[in-house]
Amino acid sequence: MRAGVFPDYEAMSAAAADVVARRLGEEHSSVLMLPTGITPLGMYRQLVEMHNSRGLSFADATFFNLDEYIGLAPDHRASYHVYMKENFYGLIDADPARVFVPDGTAPDPEAECERYEAVIRGTGGVDVCVLGIGRNGHIGFNEPGAPFDSRTRVVELSESTRKVNAADFEADRAPERAITVGMATIFEAREVMLLASGTNKAGAVAAAVEGDASESVPASMLKSHPHASLFLDEDAASGLGRGIAG
Ligand code: GLP
Repeated sequence: MRAGVFPDYEAMSAAAADVVARRLGEEHSSVLMLPTGITPLGMYRQLVEMHNSRGLSFADATFFNLDEYIGLAPDHRASYHVYMKENFYGLIDADPARVFVPDGTAPDPEAECERYEAVIRGTGGVDVCVLGIGRNGHIGFNEPGAPFDSRTRVVELSESTRKVNAADFEADRAPERAITVGMATIFEAREVMLLASGTNKAGAVAAAVEGDASESVPASMLKSHPHASLFLDEDAASGLGRGIAG
């Protein structure tokens, strides 16, 4: 796992956007798996800017979201459907037929997970998976303890994650469950990019980079990925003893 440490959030976001744009330039029909959260907003802004200013096209790409809350309609303001539409998919030339977000209102969530996993498989696999990281080391909604061989499935969210995400919800009540792409599905992506910004991620980043790979720190799974890179600002890297992990 390689780590790039950038002076600030904007520089980190620009570097991540450059990698995604380069991959798309090499292969227009790339399959991208994308996160939500505050962290990737700068990267999305940069990619939208590249689309507007120099015609970077996403028209042939396929997009998968990593996760969605169970019980939220696609038009709920805190849903990841709305987040992605407002921050990315709605601002570029993505083909709606190739944009996939798990359906949090599916009557049979387990069946929805199997369907989602099958659609991913049907594309021939993910070329680039971009991740954020939770303060407890979660990736997607794979909370600590998520089996490394897990697939897209229904998960219970930890109290700490629900607390962090509570502000997005009325009465500060975040949903208890979500659909998340599984650990093995993430690991199979040909390239994985994990973005982290801010001191509140420094502990999780250090645990992922410097500890042994362990299911108690989901992001540590990436240590054995053949093509995984961390994009960190200095604050997120501040817990790393050596600064740059090799
Ligand atoms: C959420 C998402 C993750 C995201 C993480 C960090 O719970 N499910 O995919 O990476 O939290 O979010 P943020 O970037 O806002 O810190």
